[in-house]
Amino acid sequence: MIISIVGTGYVGLVTGAIFADLGHKVFCIDIDRQKIKALSQGDLPFFEPGLEELVKRNIIQKRLFFTNDYSLSVPKSKVVFICVGTPANLDGEADLSYLFSAVTQAANHLKGYTLIAIKSTVPIGVEKELEKLISQKASTRYEFASCPEFLREGSAVEDAQNPDRIVIGTKSKKAADLLLDLYKHMNGQRIICDLRSAQMIKYAANSFLATKISFANAVANLCEATQADAEVVLQGVGSDKRIGRAFLYPGVGYGGSCFPKDISAFISLGKRYNYNFDLLKAVNSINSQQIDFFVEKVEKALGNLKGKQLAVLGISFKPNTDDIREAPSIKIIHSLLEKGAEIKAYDPVSVNNARRVLPKEVIFDHDPYTALTDCQALLLITEWNEFKELDLEKVKRLMKKPVIIDGRNIYDPAKVKQLGFIYQGIGRS
Ligand SMILES: NC(=O)c1ccc[n+]([C@@H]2O[C@H](COP(=O)([O-])OP(=O)(O)OC[C@H]3O[C@@H](n4cnc5c(N)ncnc54)[C@H](O)[C@@H]3O)[C@@H](O)[C@H]2O)c1
Repeated sequence: MIISIVGTGYVGLVTGAIFADLGHKVFCIDIDRQKIKALSQGDLPFFEPGLEELVKRNIIQKRLFFTNDYSLSVPKSKVVFICVGTPANLDGEADLSYLFSAVTQAANHLKGYTLIAIKSTVPIGVEKELEKLISQKASTRYEFASCPEFLREGSAVEDAQNPDRIVIGTKSKKAADLLLDLYKHMNGQRIICDLRSAQMIKYAANSFLATKISFANAVANLCEATQADAEVVLQGVGSDKRIGRAFLYPGVGYGGSCFPKDISAFISLGKRYNYNFDLLKAVNSINSQQIDFFVEKVEKALGNLKGKQLAVLGISFKPNTDDIREAPSIKIIHSLLEKGAEIKAYDPVSVNNARRVLPKEVIFDHDPYTALTDCQALLLITEWNEFKELDLEKVKRLMKKPVIIDGRNIYDPAKVKQLGFIYQGIGRS
């Protein structure tokens, strides 16, 4: 089948590469000329395990193409996937300008029956606005379907190849059959429903996961106050099959390009329909508080931070990605700089992205040991595997003061204390 993918970010590029690998002829369209030029040569705009190999293989096999030109592939495509960003606007609602522009541009080139499948996370009912926008432009028969994406950055290829479920939102049998055929080689439960329910599934799923994280953080904060151990408490809670341990880990809060904006958009949707989503407002506010609590822990351990050298380990919003959008590290570093601290930072892959958004005074190092040398505290923000395996005896020798503030509870408190560190985790002492 010939497929067009509009938007070559995490979702679009992964989806395109996977369908190409299944034997389809896939054209990935993006307005970013530099990105398309680089991708045509197999250079990826971001780090994602396994993706580069997949993209290069399918370019060589002449199944995966990159273009800025909608007219090259949309007229011959049976399915056009829309995968552009839907960031939050200033009111917290989803900014739909990229979506409107992408669908309008695609509509100018439709030829023959075409299914426009929306993978971007979009507010419920947006297809009505899209219909209004393009009904005069498209001279051919088209249908909309919602096909929300659930991949996680850091394991996007694996997730997209082995989804838990494939949600197809459409009332049209023809559209559903087309998508079912495209996904026939992938496992996962098929959920065929109306368009609005499909859109709602995506927001509700992300909101639930964020709620689990904030719940874990709230419990951890109370554990700290009562001298209980949050790790064992949450293990005890999460081992109940009805609850599950996934996403029930305390830390410095969630970030990334999805949870923060999707929670805000869901709250805004509630407001539009006169539903006060107090639960998600609390989830949001617990999440922001975690940043302040973390900075307070640093102050508690070191006193006044003016002139203190601190080593931040981990900048990306989670391991195995170089994405720093809404990363807790960025807010934490800004707050520490405001208090006069001097920051040295290390991350395995996201330093280039971090340089673009952090002030010049932040020093980036090429390995964790250099970052830790002469520092008064190790601040663990992102739980990359390489931080779990640090030679802590060496770390202690290099540091000016042996303090670890562990924002992800990756170290064993008893062990690090035995090595002579002053240790503070989240929800445990
Ligand atoms: N990143 C994730 O983990 C993830 C997971 C599931 C769902 N989603 C959702 O999928 C959507 C895309 O997310 P992403 O992270 O892949 O976005 P992204 O920001 O990484 O990429 C979006 C791409 O779309 C391009 N674009 C914008 N307007 C365009 C236009 N008119 N025509 C062609 N290209 C255009 C941009 O240049 C960019 O390359 C969002 O709605 C997001 O919420 C993301």
